[in-house]
Amino acid sequence: MGLIASLDIGSEKMVMAVASQENGDYHLAGIKMIALQGVTDGVITDKAKVKSYIKYLIQELAKDKAIDRLKMSLSGAALRVSEHKVNVLLQRKNVKEGDLARAENKCIEAAVSREDELVDILPVSYQIDRGMVVAHPVGVAGRSLDVHYRVYLADAAYLMEIRALLADCGIEDVEFFPPVRAYMEALDVCSTDKPFALIDMGARHTAVMLWGEGMLKQEVVLPLGTHAVDTDIMKGFRIEGIQVAKQMKHQYGIALRSMCKTEKIAIPEVKKQIEKRDLAKVIQCRMEELLEGAIFQLQQWRFNDAEKEILLTGGGSRVIGTDTLLAKLSGHKVRMAKVKGVISGNEEILSAPACLIVLGLLLCEHIELEEEKGGIGNWFSSIFK
Ligand SMILES: Nc1ncnc2c1ncn2[C@@H]1O[C@H](COP(=O)(O)OP(=O)(O)OP(=O)(O)O)[C@@H](O)[C@H]1O
Ligand SMILES: [Mg+2]
Repeated sequence: MGLIASLDIGSEKMVMAVASQENGDYHLAGIKMIALQGVTDGVITDKAKVKSYIKYLIQELAKDKAIDRLKMSLSGAALRVSEHKVNVLLQRKNVKEGDLARAENKCIEAAVSREDELVDILPVSYQIDRGMVVAHPVGVAGRSLDVHYRVYLADAAYLMEIRALLADCGIEDVEFFPPVRAYMEALDVCSTDKPFALIDMGARHTAVMLWGEGMLKQEVVLPLGTHAVDTDIMKGFRIEGIQVAKQMKHQYGIALRSMCKTEKIAIPEVKKQIEKRDLAKVIQCRMEELLEGAIFQLQQWRFNDAEKEILLTGGGSRVIGTDTLLAKLSGHKVRMAKVKGVISGNEEILSAPACLIVLGLLLCEHIELEEEKGGIGNWFSSIFK
């Protein structure tokens, strides 16, 4: 058997992971990240460039074994999200798996047009008889079921282009997922009823999600990320190139000025020194703005109980002290997110903030719910067996 690969294309980086599947377990065989060009707001704009990056990653990661399947995330303008509510009558006066399948199919029929391809569909709440909201509907008595879904769609023609691009790289079997499904699998959301939040600090976006009762409850992607810190450093210290500013952030950046000792640091490539505390001050201002935006969202969703945890991820959260700053601003317990369900000899990689999506993707599967064949007929035949 060959390898399973996953590919996450962010705003600034492309990351691929490969794993072998043994007895249902995913063993990480390799992971590699490269800086990215040729993608605008999640949409591949320079196919030749992106193809060469993907070929390079495959060459590096799949030297001895071929890649059988690739799971890829879609984001930004490549993905459209809409919300739908559907109602189904319960044929047997309590909810069966088949009713969930009927509700899902009804939603897909209403939401997906000819030009679209369904990427994913996630239930966010179930309501029985237009009253009681339940987390686990199967077996609950009632006459009707309302399901609220989030539906993730992509332009079918665009996905055909990506499939062709990947076929040129030697990969024929490709599946697409929204990042939210990858987070869900990475954090094994289905196995915990406890509510928690997740903040992903990317280069150009800050994604905020609320989970509870094993489901996604809320999700928003704010259009500002830690790339803004780089431009602040550039302006604040009159640095010419954005890469130099970014290097300063990576090498010396601290999100809390009070954590800094008095120390002089040199700006690379110029004969100039600055106070490390001054750099921290610039970084803290922007990080506070980004985190306050995420906290505001969580408060809108009534995520107020301080006991509830916030998980932090995304390359932007690698600035030292980001978790402490978030805990201070929000009053919540804060922990770095870690992938469950992928086995690796290098445990550290499972907590690497920029790798949560790509590792979660390895675990993603499209599962189609099955409607009961024959509906009432089936029910009758089961009585008269
Ligand atoms: N060692 C580091 N220290 C501080 N910041 C870092 C470090 N490594 C990466 N970053 C920052 O992380 C950000 C990129 O994060 P990530 O890789 O999660 O973004 P992305 O997925 O490409 O973007 P987006 O999610 O916005 O589309 C950049 O601002 C980068 O400077
Ligand atoms: Mg990202």
